[in-house]
Amino acid sequence: MVINAERLRAETPGCLDGLVHLNNAGASLIATPVAQAVSDHLALEQRIGGYEAAARESHLIDAAYQAAADLVGGHKTEIALLDNATRAWQAVFYAMDWQPGDRVVTGHAEYNSNMIAFRHAADRFGIEVVLAGDNAHGELDPDAVEALIDKRTRLICVSHMPTNDGLINPVEEIGAIARSHDIPFLLDACQSAGQMPLDVGRIGCTMLSATGRKYLRGPRGTGFLWVHHDWIERLSPHVLDIRSAEWVAVDTYKIADNATRFELWESNVAAHIGLGAACRYALDTGVADIWARICELSDTLRTELDTLPGIKVRDRGRVKSGIVTFSHQHIPAETIVSRLRNEWSINTSVSATQLTRTGLIEQGITQLVRASVHAYNTHEDINRLIDALNVLASDQPDREPGPDKLMRTEKAAMTEEE
Ligand SMILES: Cc1ncc(COP(=O)(O)O)c(C=O)c1O
Repeated sequence: MVINAERLRAETPGCLDGLVHLNNAGASLIATPVAQAVSDHLALEQRIGGYEAAARESHLIDAAYQAAADLVGGHKTEIALLDNATRAWQAVFYAMDWQPGDRVVTGHAEYNSNMIAFRHAADRFGIEVVLAGDNAHGELDPDAVEALIDKRTRLICVSHMPTNDGLINPVEEIGAIARSHDIPFLLDACQSAGQMPLDVGRIGCTMLSATGRKYLRGPRGTGFLWVHHDWIERLSPHVLDIRSAEWVAVDTYKIADNATRFELWESNVAAHIGLGAACRYALDTGVADIWARICELSDTLRTELDTLPGIKVRDRGRVKSGIVTFSHQHIPAETIVSRLRNEWSINTSVSATQLTRTGLIEQGITQLVRASVHAYNTHEDINRLIDALNVLASDQPDREPGPDKLMRTEKAAMTEEE
């Protein structure tokens, strides 16, 4: 089915205001029904009280678990509603019973916060983290993952779509390897949730983390976790409270037997209702159709960028995501992003080059421009970006970046938003 882009745009006020929003990998524009679900609940809290509103609208909270489960092909008892993808990922990563010498196999394009958690766990628990190599297309190589599996391997962690550079890792092949070795597989689906169809059964992952604000178009400060039912009771949460556990006697507690063991009692109920509405909105729109439109728009964008002098698309992988990244031979990414925003109302973002992309860093490229498209974007949006880049490039004196510019760029790369 061809997506009804006009309807999507009509339900996205930012599109109507003349904004070209190409920062969907940062946070996308919330659709009106989703914003409405959040504000309706806040209004109810204001009128009748927070606890009373949650009780009255408990069916909407329940619907949020169901919608998240439907989005990934799981069961609602396998879902925990949390405040972002990192919390979701950490909730299970730190629930593993780590022992010195345990091995985690991951890839070079793993998300930065996950990389920090690996180092942290290496320091705290003495685990070993090994990075499998990429194939010729820059994707995580399943054979390299398998070659690193040994009897100490306790977990495989992969980012489905890394934060920049269009890459889509071959998660189904990795899932098959994880299953054949009976090793749990934690999938970071932060950028793929809402962007492409996900089915945990087909992927073969054991745990999946996702965020609300990116391709799902949900409110900020939301995310969810899915854990395969066989694994829920094998993971001991690193914190417990009256939501994740029940205090059954003075000296006894019982941990919840479903994925709520990874939640805490207090949460932003309105935001979680909004997350549920966002998952349902994506499902009703049709995630396969969203994905088809994103592929079409991002292919066009890459083709057009390739025609511009001085610009190089830096994406990897055979099939590429809606996250398009590029650099200009002279103009720093931060200049491009701020001029696009201030002079043309085009939102893109600066994306720090992954520390592991040494090839780029050696060339002095520590930042890329990230233009991430969603299904509500149009060919007209892409034309506006290309026209603006043409003007911007023609304003620049033709020279190599000086050493101060490189140093400034590197410093900024340490503090960038994702
Ligand atoms: C691949 C990937 N994983 C995880 C995250 C973290 O998501 P959150 O900020 O919701 O914790 C991001 C954010 O950019 C990401 O791109």
